[in-house]
Amino acid sequence: MFDQFPEKINLANTPTPLVFLEKLSKKIGGPNIWLKRDDFTGSFLTGNKVRKLEYIVARALKEGAGALITCGGIQSNHCRATALVCAQLGLEAHLVLRKENSLEIDGNYFLDNLAGAKIHLYSPQEYFSNLENIFVEIKNTLKTQGKHSYSIPTGASDGVGIWGYVECVKELKADFELHGINPEYIVCATGSGGTQSGLSLGSHLLGVEAQTIGYAVCDDANYFNKKAQKDIEQCNALYDLGVSVNTVTIKTIDDYIGAGYAKGYPELYTFIKEICRLEGIVLDPVYTGKAFYGLVNDINSGRYQGVKDIVFIHTGGVYGLFPFRNDFHFV
Ligand SMILES: Cc1ncc(COP(=O)(O)O)c(C=O)c1O
Repeated sequence: MFDQFPEKINLANTPTPLVFLEKLSKKIGGPNIWLKRDDFTGSFLTGNKVRKLEYIVARALKEGAGALITCGGIQSNHCRATALVCAQLGLEAHLVLRKENSLEIDGNYFLDNLAGAKIHLYSPQEYFSNLENIFVEIKNTLKTQGKHSYSIPTGASDGVGIWGYVECVKELKADFELHGINPEYIVCATGSGGTQSGLSLGSHLLGVEAQTIGYAVCDDANYFNKKAQKDIEQCNALYDLGVSVNTVTIKTIDDYIGAGYAKGYPELYTFIKEICRLEGIVLDPVYTGKAFYGLVNDINSGRYQGVKDIVFIHTGGVYGLFPFRNDFHFV
């Protein structure tokens, strides 16, 4: 079995359990739905980003970095994870954040501040048109202070961060053996592409037959198919894997984005509430809720007819739920 994993540092609580959602599966009457509990990777480091950071931060430390620079939306789970990892390791965290609708100190943004991250706020317009220069400016300023920094792209999705979900496939392989299953699909939310690309590459390298499907939460299928391919190509080149990238199957479904990134819709809020009451599982409207809603809707409409087992990766994101409190109606 493939075992050429690069060096990492231990930050995540892994392996995470794979659990059978019995009540939901019975209710839908389709495939068995399994949940990989990557919301258990940590309490404050909860979710998928910490798996990627294990590899990225190892590289940054090897290069002698004393500061990490990264970016995202105001409620970025990735930025929150980076802020907390920096606090844990005694590194300086610089977060380039898009100030969207509200600037309330809430959810992930609250934790960023609590952890002492240096916040650099920009309007979406400035952010999208000038991100590269913003990173360079911060890097240069840190350099004048004698600090070496390491830049992490959006969502830690690149040819290094990808290892987090290649490694997750190794865990899944053991999970499948333990439960005596051979799932046809591994499904995840896709937002910056790295979880999807890691699962796709991991299945290829480790001989797992399941097809990875990313349910897009922002950009379209074409964008994510290309992004996943780019991450895989970068990893292949960096680590000399000898993979012929075109043979890695990449699949994205983009039917559930709604009005855009971090924009929910009434059926989604209802779904999140129902799943919480049925299974005691907390999803968020930006990532896991959108993707899981898409999967369940697609099962109900026959897309997965004849399929026996599907694994959904719960990629965390609970802190991003709270700023949506006013969109939920309780009677
Ligand atoms: C909770 C959560 N789930 C899923 C994703 C999507 O993962 P990726 O960025 O690797 O596509 C993200 C981040 O984008 C996230 O924060």
